[in-house]
Amino acid sequence: MRKKIVAGNWKMNKTLQEGVALATELKDILAAEKPNCEVIIGTPFIHLATLSNLLKDSVIAVSAENCANKASGAYTGEVSAAMVKSTGAEYVILGHSERREYYHETPEILKEKVDLALENGLKVIFCIGESLEQREKGEQEAVCKAELEGSVFHLTPEQWKNIVIAYEPIWAIGTGKTATAEQAEEIHAFIRKCVADVYGAEMAEDTSILYGGSCKASNAPELFSKPDIDGGLIGGASLKAPDFKGIIDAWK
Ligand code: PGA
Repeated sequence: MRKKIVAGNWKMNKTLQEGVALATELKDILAAEKPNCEVIIGTPFIHLATLSNLLKDSVIAVSAENCANKASGAYTGEVSAAMVKSTGAEYVILGHSERREYYHETPEILKEKVDLALENGLKVIFCIGESLEQREKGEQEAVCKAELEGSVFHLTPEQWKNIVIAYEPIWAIGTGKTATAEQAEEIHAFIRKCVADVYGAEMAEDTSILYGGSCKASNAPELFSKPDIDGGLIGGASLKAPDFKGIIDAWK
């Protein structure tokens, strides 16, 4: 059975002290009331070591939001997959549209990052999704398929077990405009079919596909009720413990 997951993506928010306070609050809330899904928080690099330690006996796993496309060496300012792993983090988010757009991460660069993350024992939350213009032209399926082919469909079946897909329509990220549950389900089912074409039906059934883009406590129950939506990747609503908990509760 595939995992149900609610993952936070803090993006470039929270100082170290603020991050510790938020993670502590979440840890306490989820210790008092066990979640019905896997809970992950994706944080800036500076939080990883402290939060991995703070959360080590909790139900919350820690994820980086990026890693370098080089293994080590003279790449000033970069953080390698091995370094991320050494903090105790279990996951890394790769392929987010903000990194593709603002930091010019191409499919080739993302492929290198995915390979290094897996080689170093990290699990990858790999993001795909179309822009508004692409959606208006009806290109969403072609875009998602191309993004999978460009960076993750070269993986072996064994490696694929460590991949979680996040479908995040760019027009829904941080805009308050969510895809309807029907729109999201339609493309999630298509993504699962693409996975089945490469890895077979059984592995596709076991792949978790998350929805991201203005997901909140009020719309999560409807989104998560769809057969091919296995949880969410949450930006804005992961920055306050009660909001994030509200989404986790959608699995109750
Ligand atoms: P949002 O961001 O929930 O703030 O729309 C989602 C994401 O970018 O992962």
